[in-house]
Amino acid sequence: MTTSTSLSQDELKTLVGQAALQYVVRGEIVGVGTGSTVNKFIDALAGMKDEIKGAVSSSVASTERLKALGIPVFDANEVESLAVYIDGADEIDGKGHMVKGGGAALTREKIVAALASRFVCIADESKLVAALGKFPLPVEVIPMAAQHITRRFAAMGGTASLRLKDGQPLVTDNGQHILDVTGLSIQDPLAFESEINQWPGVVTVGVFAHQKASVCLLGTAQGVKTLAY
Ligand code: A5P
Repeated sequence: MTTSTSLSQDELKTLVGQAALQYVVRGEIVGVGTGSTVNKFIDALAGMKDEIKGAVSSSVASTERLKALGIPVFDANEVESLAVYIDGADEIDGKGHMVKGGGAALTREKIVAALASRFVCIADESKLVAALGKFPLPVEVIPMAAQHITRRFAAMGGTASLRLKDGQPLVTDNGQHILDVTGLSIQDPLAFESEINQWPGVVTVGVFAHQKASVCLLGTAQGVKTLAY
């Protein structure tokens, strides 16, 4: 697809959201992520809602949007597997490793992604990085462990901040808190994800390396580029 060079970030998100429809398997349930890019996908998906069984959603926000458009939403426990999961990212590297959780939905995103054979990442080109670590790393934590986890990140050179909403700690769909960590150098995403995930009180770290993207549809000034990993 060729486009003009003057597309806004919002228009790039619309383009990749629409491009993701080609990965939706007719007659099946599709895994749906969270965020502004996925919202474009959900809007496009409404145009083929009669050709799919429905969706498994990774957040309350996406569930509400899907249902408002008449797309049936299934609980993750109702499905054994999904052909495809479609979601955005805060960062994606050249191997399909991602940082996610800017929208605080990382835990449910990882759960739905784990059900899927294929992870299709949709992103504008600002998300492509040489190495993960530019975007503050979201980590969902049990509130009573927040200070302990903050000290552990400090010991590895990171600065963790409790995410706030309206001046109060943000509460996730799972009733937990989010730490955003800056100053980290993530050289080995697989090892990093494994290590942080076993710290007591960590619910989910926002590195998606074990469940990396299979494909990234990247919105660029030249159109949608397909990167396969
Ligand atoms: C939600 O928790 C995130 O993982 C999103 O997928 C990520 O923040 C990308 O969001 P946008 O599409 O809004 O940039």
